[in-house]
Amino acid sequence: MPRVFRLAYVDLATPSLDDARAYYDGVLGATTVQQTGDAAYLSLGLDHHNIALRKGDRPGLTAIGLQVGPGVELPDLQRRIAEMGLRVESKSDARPGVPRLLEVTDLGGHTFQLLPEIAAAGPGFSGRGVDPVRVGHVAILTTDASAVLGFLTNGLGFSTTDWFEDFVTFVTCNRDHHVLNVIQAPFATLHHLAFQLEGRDHQFRAADHLAREKVPTLWGPSRHTAGHNVASYHHGADSAVIELYNDMDVFIPEMGMCEPRPWHGDLPQRPKHWPITEMTRWETRYEFDFVTAALGGPPEL
Ligand SMILES: [Fe+2]
Repeated sequence: MPRVFRLAYVDLATPSLDDARAYYDGVLGATTVQQTGDAAYLSLGLDHHNIALRKGDRPGLTAIGLQVGPGVELPDLQRRIAEMGLRVESKSDARPGVPRLLEVTDLGGHTFQLLPEIAAAGPGFSGRGVDPVRVGHVAILTTDASAVLGFLTNGLGFSTTDWFEDFVTFVTCNRDHHVLNVIQAPFATLHHLAFQLEGRDHQFRAADHLAREKVPTLWGPSRHTAGHNVASYHHGADSAVIELYNDMDVFIPEMGMCEPRPWHGDLPQRPKHWPITEMTRWETRYEFDFVTAALGGPPEL
């Protein structure tokens, strides 16, 4: 049984808080709930925040917040994670709206925060911009995918739902096909950040909104293979790759398969290793390189 059940927030470092807010607040339509001199906390609707921006020297993904399910005692979880040989610390009032959390650091170049609760102090859906319904998943490049995946599956109870070849792994802690994509790479950063839309109409409205904002859509909308979400991508603040999607596969862990859909190539649709050349069910041409588009870019060699 998963010990966490959803992606609550991501922390992003940015050299320009104003520019990053101009995108996440102005274009995406999140609402700034709280701002200090070097940080801004933005909500998509209910949670105190789903995106935290902090001033930093270079753009980066600095933490991933996963919410712990009811009945999970933090000391027990901390002990279990420590027994896995991971660095884990318990923190109180480390961020607004989150009274307690466990922080796991130095894990394949990433930091994970595990929180039992976040204040429902959000301002409601903004009605502005893209106005997504939630932060859906985060894809990360990591220098140690094996360690990250061991933590997620053995430590937190995630299920593995698909792979591209051997270096991209999709995992979930709920019925979404994926909550995280974990990608082995020579360096660690954000690969892309995905926001869920209400449905197909919303996907079109969002694309029209981006056009008005003069934000080019890089790829899509097209239906993926792994996850079968209809997805489109654009560059957000600091050129981070942002995915907007709807209609993602519903994974049934008890059956080790996705709920059947007419567009599935396999019935039942079970976890499998997809060729990297089969990224879209519609065979849409795939024309940009996610690795060079990684947040902050590849490190200087
Ligand atoms: Fe994605």
